This record gives sequence, C-alpha cells and structure tokens, in this order.
Amino acid sequence: MKTPVTNIADLREIARRRVPRAFFEYADRGSYDEVTLRENRRAFERLQLRQRVMQNVDHRSLGTTILGSPVSMPLAIAPTGLTGLQHGSGEILGARAAAEAGIPFCLSTVSICSIEQVRAACDTPFWFQVYVMRDRGFTRELIRRARAAECSALMLTADLTVQGQRHREIKNGLSVPPKVTLRNIFDIASKPRWAWSVLKAPSRSFGNLDGRIQGADSLTTLAQWIANQFDPTLNWNDLAWIREEWPGKLIIKGILDPEDARLAVEHGVDAIVVSNHGGRQLDGAPATIDVLPSIVDAVAGRIEVLFDSGITSGQDLIKALALGARAGLIGKAFLYGLGANGQQGVAQAIELIRRELSVTMALTGQRDASRISRDILWRNA
Ligand code: GLV
Repeated sequence: MKTPVTNIADLREIARRRVPRAFFEYADRGSYDEVTLRENRRAFERLQLRQRVMQNVDHRSLGTTILGSPVSMPLAIAPTGLTGLQHGSGEILGARAAAEAGIPFCLSTVSICSIEQVRAACDTPFWFQVYVMRDRGFTRELIRRARAAECSALMLTADLTVQGQRHREIKNGLSVPPKVTLRNIFDIASKPRWAWSVLKAPSRSFGNLDGRIQGADSLTTLAQWIANQFDPTLNWNDLAWIREEWPGKLIIKGILDPEDARLAVEHGVDAIVVSNHGGRQLDGAPATIDVLPSIVDAVAGRIEVLFDSGITSGQDLIKALALGARAGLIGKAFLYGLGANGQQGVAQAIELIRRELSVTMALTGQRDASRISRDILWRNA
C-alpha cells in the first residue's frame, strides 16, 4: 500500500526522488553555510503556542483579504525562480492550483513560462515579481508586460542585487536550460515523469527573457547570469520611475530591518514582504520570524506586512499571523508539492497547510484567522 502524504516533508521526499538533482537542490538549499536557512526553522520551533479549551471553535473562518482582495486563507505562493524546471509548465500549474484554492500566485521574473504564457493559461489575475536589471529599458518592458497581462500586483525584490553563493548550484553546474552532461543524462533518464512534463511544456528556458537579453537563452550558470544582469545600483530613488510604470499595487520583498520597513512606508509602497529569501541570500541574517515583530511595530499598521521564509506548516503560518503578518508566502513548500506531483501536488501542499492552520486555530481557541494576535503565543517563548 502507498504511504499517504500527511505533511510537506512527505512532498519534499517525493520531489527529491522525482526532480533532477540540480533543480531539486536549487529549491531545497540555502546560501553559504546555510545558517539562516536552519535558523528559519529553529526560530519557528522555539515559539510556543498557548493551548486554550472550551471556546466553542466549531465554526472557524480562514478567509481574509490581502491588498484589499478576498482570499480563502492568509497564504500566497511566493515567486520562485526556475519553477518550470521542478515540473514542466510549473508556473502555469502553480497559478492554476493557487486560483482554485483562492490564494494569490506570484510569477517570478526568472520563471520558465513567460508572463504571457501564464496569462493565456489562467483566467485569474496573478502577481508579478520583478528584478531590476541593468538594462532599465528591459525592466520597464517587463513591468509593461505585467500590466498588459493585468497582473494584480507588482512585487519588487530588493534583496538580490548580488547573489549570495549557494554551493550546491555551483557544484551541480546549475544551468538553464539543463546542460547535457553524462551525469545529467543519467539523472534525467531515471526521472521519466519529469522529462516528459518538461518536453510537453511551452518553455524550457527563461520565458520572460528569451531572445531579449544576451546570454539568457544560451547555456549559462544562473549565478553568472545574475551577476551580469541584476543591477546593484538599485536604491530608493528608483521607486519613482517604477511607480510611473506601475500605478497598481506595489509590494517590496526582502525587508529584514525596521529601518528599511519605515523607508518602504515613506516611499509609498502598498505592502512589504519580510523575507530573508528563504535563507538563500545573506547567510547569518536572523530568522524572518524573529525580526517580524520589530518590523510590524515600525510599520504601525500603515501598510500590509506579508511574511516569507520558512513556512512549512499551518503551525508556522499561525505564528507569523500572531506576530502581525497579514499572510504568509510559501516558496519551498510550493516547489516540493509541484515537484512531487504537478498541479495536484501544489493543491495538496496548500490543503495540508490549510488543515493544519484550521486545527491549530481550534486548539488555540481561535475562530477567525484575520483576528489572530500575539495572545496565542506562550509568553515564555
Ligand atoms: C532567485 O530568486 C533565487 O532565489 O534563486
């Protein structure tokens, strides 16, 4: 009998077997010594919840709003690079699963399926994440394409203008599209489901950049490519021209310091994502959940605060909500579901977190996910 999937760790294990190693490890690992990657987990584990009883928790509501739009639960899919190489058409499948579950999906600049391909395959508007490239004309064009595709929010990632080294990406020779080496051929030959899904997909390279940026459509390591294209001069003044191009909802992702959170509010963004890029950038940075309270205090309710980095369960999510996040984003948990079983796997990842959140709300005496407060945390935690 097949062992049932009961948590995100199970999906991770299936993805590990089904996805070629270079892509699985790209999703799974962090930068340098992975201190921050581990800390994201440990910090969640240190926080304890207050068990409450006899509160009549029969009817519980998980729905809330993010940036004014109703969502079925306080969760969104984080932008992740190379999603369509965890499973062919991964971005389309992820967007569809999110739409069916009633939560937002954010497409990455460095996606495999392009903005237009995802738009054509899904009726529900999605968010678009933008990296500012040295070629500002091209960056403007990306934003215009997101507008033309009626994306419902633009998420500017601020914490990856230079890349934190990920040893596994270098050791695996991670490249897009996959490099044909003897080792890769053996790896891919043992993953026929993956190979078939990628062969059927509309894109196998960076869909948004193909033909537009030199080097983006030839074999190249991701790290080299980022070093050449991403713009380290990015600063707060850039928000002026970005705002001209994008009058809609604007989110900044990668805030990890209260001072930067204040600056984001002053520069008129609609929301921030508190994130350490899933432990993939500044190794030695604190866990996101540990800095969340000071950022929520600095923002003082003026804009929405979203939470990213480390959520692998509904118990994690409720802790982020308790400390003031409007909603949580999942990156790795999403990719494990996708790698394990395509759209169904993503749906399963979301559903697992939904059920864990619902049960944890009940056991902490909560009926409404939009009203969860610091009260649910054990004071000694
Ligand atoms: C890109 O966003 C990455 O984390 O590799």
